[in-house]
Amino acid sequence: MEIRTPVTSEEWDAYYQLRWEELRKPWNQPIGSEKDPDENLFCHLAAFENESILGVGCLKMINDKEAQIRFMAVANSLQRKGVGVSLMNALEVEAFSRGAHKVVLHAREIAVPFYEYCGYMMIEKSYLLYDTIQHYLMSKEI
Ligand SMILES: CC(C)(COP(=O)(O)OP(=O)(O)OC[C@H]1O[C@@H](n2cnc3c(N)ncnc32)[C@H](O)[C@@H]1OP(=O)(O)O)[C@@H](O)C(=O)NCCC(=O)NCCS
Repeated sequence: MEIRTPVTSEEWDAYYQLRWEELRKPWNQPIGSEKDPDENLFCHLAAFENESILGVGCLKMINDKEAQIRFMAVANSLQRKGVGVSLMNALEVEAFSRGAHKVVLHAREIAVPFYEYCGYMMIEKSYLLYDTIQHYLMSKEI
């Protein structure tokens, strides 16, 4: 498995397709809803193997010392095989290299055990997406 930023237009398409499939499609959200207006400010990483994309995630610097991990998603059939942890480790290395000492994220309720496994602490309940998906603010010192 190789973790890196997508390069070709096919890789970028696969990157956003996976994000949409895992984070938007199950809630009947249209293609395009997976993108944020600030995409060009993020550091995007994906896990690749044999030209297939296995998982995606991105990093946003909130300020000089604090980063946020966003849009973490692993292809449904490949979950629970360690891809998510590998992506989180790579995103944290990237955050540290950019000067961050803390990473925050808003975890979907279903993903809280995964982020706890990655060493994140629960801070507080945050927002509700599509009136159904409760999120929790979590953080980790790096
Ligand atoms: C959350 C997600 C990114 C985790 O990626 P993953 O590759 O499946 O996770 P890993 O295999 O690296 O998991 C590492 C450990 O985290 C914990 N964990 C992961 N998913 C879990 C779950 N659904 N329930 C409980 N624990 C979980 C386990 O301890 C796991 O180790 P184990 O499999 O040896 O028990 C992935 O499940 C996913 O894409 N889910 C759908 C989209 C989503 O909800 N994204 C998060 C948005 S905030």
